[in-house]
Amino acid sequence: MENINANPSLTALTEIAQSINTIQDSVRLLEKILEIALDTLAAERGFILLNSDKTPEGFEIKSSRNLTDSQASDLAHLSTSVVQQVQKNAEPVLSFEVQNDPRYGQAESIVVQKIQSIACVPLLLKTRQIGVIYLDSLTKRSKFNPESLPFLTAFANQAAIAIENARLYESLRDENRHLRQEVQRTHGFSEIIGQHPKMHQLFDVIHRVLESDASVLIEGESGTGKELVARAIHYNGERKDKPFMAFFCGSLPDSLIESELFGHKKGAFTGAVSDKHGLFEAADRGTFFLDEIGDLSQQIQTKLLRVLQEGEIKRVGETQIRKVDVRIISATNKFLRESIKEGTFREDLFYRLNTISITLPPLRERNSDIPLLAHHFLDKYTAKRKNNIKGFTAEALATLKNFNWPGNVRELENTIERAVLMSKSNMIAAADLMLNFEDNVENTETELTLNEIQRRGIQKVLQAQNGNITETSRVLGVSRRWLQYRIKEWQL
Ligand SMILES: Nc1ncnc2c1ncn2[C@@H]1O[C@H](COP(=O)(O)OP(=O)(O)OP(=O)(O)O)[C@@H](O)[C@H]1O
Ligand SMILES: [Mg+2]
Repeated sequence: MENINANPSLTALTEIAQSINTIQDSVRLLEKILEIALDTLAAERGFILLNSDKTPEGFEIKSSRNLTDSQASDLAHLSTSVVQQVQKNAEPVLSFEVQNDPRYGQAESIVVQKIQSIACVPLLLKTRQIGVIYLDSLTKRSKFNPESLPFLTAFANQAAIAIENARLYESLRDENRHLRQEVQRTHGFSEIIGQHPKMHQLFDVIHRVLESDASVLIEGESGTGKELVARAIHYNGERKDKPFMAFFCGSLPDSLIESELFGHKKGAFTGAVSDKHGLFEAADRGTFFLDEIGDLSQQIQTKLLRVLQEGEIKRVGETQIRKVDVRIISATNKFLRESIKEGTFREDLFYRLNTISITLPPLRERNSDIPLLAHHFLDKYTAKRKNNIKGFTAEALATLKNFNWPGNVRELENTIERAVLMSKSNMIAAADLMLNFEDNVENTETELTLNEIQRRGIQKVLQAQNGNITETSRVLGVSRRWLQYRIKEWQL
């Protein structure tokens, strides 16, 4: 350390120490580190290489300065290169007459790029090497001299700590965000209520898929519990300690879906102000739930197929391939087989998604479960509101069983929640349920498609509720998200 008494070196070390405390964004931090190093040595070009288990070569080049991608790539990849040597030996290299240096003068990239001086140092943490800082100059010797070496080593040690710090901070932040999203969500298997034989079959299938990574396609009408099942598979399986990411495929424009799912490179489009990882990267080693998969465009379908086939993604605006390990669970309430016939859904993608297929029965096919479900929701909402409702009158239960539930379990749940609010005695009566039987006949116009029935139904309720989306979604027992999407799709 005695050598570090020149002012620029001290300034650089002070600056890097400050950066450790202030810059928590790793992209900005790496830029800063490189900038300080280049300034201090009056070098023209440089990059930072970080080890990574997400790329086939085991590292990624970050924040390069005044180098084209292919120049940086040559410098980093060629086995004769200085960078490779520093990676291997974890020792710094300094050379200020490279062309005449017997150690490197023959290296192709050095000759081709006419490099005059090079400084390359490993980024070392106590126990391991996390990457390399590479600097060079084409025109002059710059301030590369033997005294630079101890400075660079000290500098790289500080930088390594700063980088690790920022990485830890970022992963904590991601995890925190994810935990906040997940907290208070019910994810136990025990949350799925049902005694009907069809439900027992369902539990069997779920049990069988828990230990595998096979893709699961969940089909079922709105409100039948598709998301509930997806969560149950994740939280009871081997990936339960890793993220569960849910993504709703409808209602977003393609370009947004793409950058959300796959991430983007800084400058890939207007508004892409920094590099951003996508949800697939965030879900690495966890489960990805693609809701309403039938609404994806062909373009996104093709990219998704690549994730399923190769476990590979590319951020928008980048050529680099990244590996991700995600289990895919998808859900649809469309008949995907029809979409395949119509040519709007890729058949090969369908087979990849559908390794295991789960079909959720609508409530009308398991009427016998209605009392059980009704009591389950009654417990849930009375516990929340601390009132002393004890149960349902016989008439109320009969009413629930006889109703035709287009919105399935979600609609039943909303009905009970409302009844708990409305009830004036300690038993919920039929009138408290406020179910409208007049409109509740099964549609006999058999020539209508399911879509058309839905469209007409939504339109009717929307009108009755004066266009209020929140109320309409409550009455129909569907999510606001879904309703808004349909309204847009059908221009209601
Ligand atoms: N078998 C069940 N037992 C208990 N609750 C259920 C069951 N099925 C669904 N629910 C509840 O009904 C509501 C709707 O379920 P979920 O969101 O999983 O349905 P979905 O099929 O994804 O609906 P959509 O098609 O509208 O997205 C949730 O509050 C869920 O907890
Ligand atoms: Mg859903």
